[in-house]
Amino acid sequence: MATGWIRARAPATIANLGPGFDVFALAVRGPADEVAIRPAKRDSLQVHGVGAAGIPSTFSGNTAGITIEALRKATGISQPLEVRVAKGIPPGRGLGSSAGSCAAAALAFLKALPKSRDLGIAGVLRAAVEGEAAVSGRHYDNVAGALLGGFVILGSSEPLLLTREPVSPRIALAIAIPDFALRTADMRKILPPVVPLSDAVSNVGHAAILALALARGDAALAGRCLEDRFAEPVRAPFLDGYAEARSAALKAGATGFGLCGSGSSVFAFAPNSGVAGSLAEAMCDAFRSRGHAATPLVTAVDNRVPSAGLLPSFGRRFSVPAGRGPPSISWGHPPGISQSGLESRPDGITGETSRPRTPVLQHAPTPRRSRR
Ligand code: HSE
Repeated sequence: MATGWIRARAPATIANLGPGFDVFALAVRGPADEVAIRPAKRDSLQVHGVGAAGIPSTFSGNTAGITIEALRKATGISQPLEVRVAKGIPPGRGLGSSAGSCAAAALAFLKALPKSRDLGIAGVLRAAVEGEAAVSGRHYDNVAGALLGGFVILGSSEPLLLTREPVSPRIALAIAIPDFALRTADMRKILPPVVPLSDAVSNVGHAAILALALARGDAALAGRCLEDRFAEPVRAPFLDGYAEARSAALKAGATGFGLCGSGSSVFAFAPNSGVAGSLAEAMCDAFRSRGHAATPLVTAVDNRVPSAGLLPSFGRRFSVPAGRGPPSISWGHPPGISQSGLESRPDGITGETSRPRTPVLQHAPTPRRSRR
């Protein structure tokens, strides 16, 4: 390992996106955590930046240190490290703050200790989620979004099944960040253990259309699909200003409104940054009307792949069906990549290639045109 500082950044993320509880995450352009590491005689950790005063600053208490420890266990690498965490993602606002530190720490570790890259996406994700689990509960959405960027869908965590897709720049994001925090760990304790079948059906249907709308760049349709019947109804009462922000966003022209992760921030989709600006201001004004300061953020999905060059992937659009199960098969081509092929590799990752379409495993048969 080199003796100097090795740095890595990971973006803020919005998990859930309404109906995709613990399943969806979007990486967000702008706020990010940076972790720097260098070899040392013994482990140490310092935190500075946004909200640092309220964040554990011991190696064994901070999500960055916990992730590094999990990576060392998984790889057998025992190198003690000096760690500096620069917080850019405000904690307790539903923007994946703890996950940002986990992901940035994991990326710094992968950069500094190339042997650890053998863990692959699944192994790194499992280590990074240890940091998340220690502070907010064992959910993979934010850490997957922060490591892989774009729009991530977790089909299952054991065995790992996820897919990663870029989001069209035709979708802008309006976010309002109030000045109070909600703890994810607390917001998970209040969740119902079972949900009625009709609510499950509603969430699955909305989530499925939402995923397509994000990939197609249809901000209006995406907004229409943000209704969540699992978590948001029980969490909203804990968020002072939620009802006001929601109605202000809808009045200002939002087609939908949602809670960022477990809160306290809220978001809406918009067809451009101008509309997003109005929505963000309207939502912030609503929080202010309840006596809370709030910060608007007008942004877009961060389609970069933070782990690019460190973990195997297929560019910006790929799937990871790791662990047990049959070899993965890509069925057909997602819209917009007709010039490329989809391949499956021995490590199970499937994705878009830049080569012309040459099926490696299998493709769905092209439907025959009906003759009239
Ligand atoms: N899926 C997690 C939850 C995200 O809603 O509890 C937390 O940001």
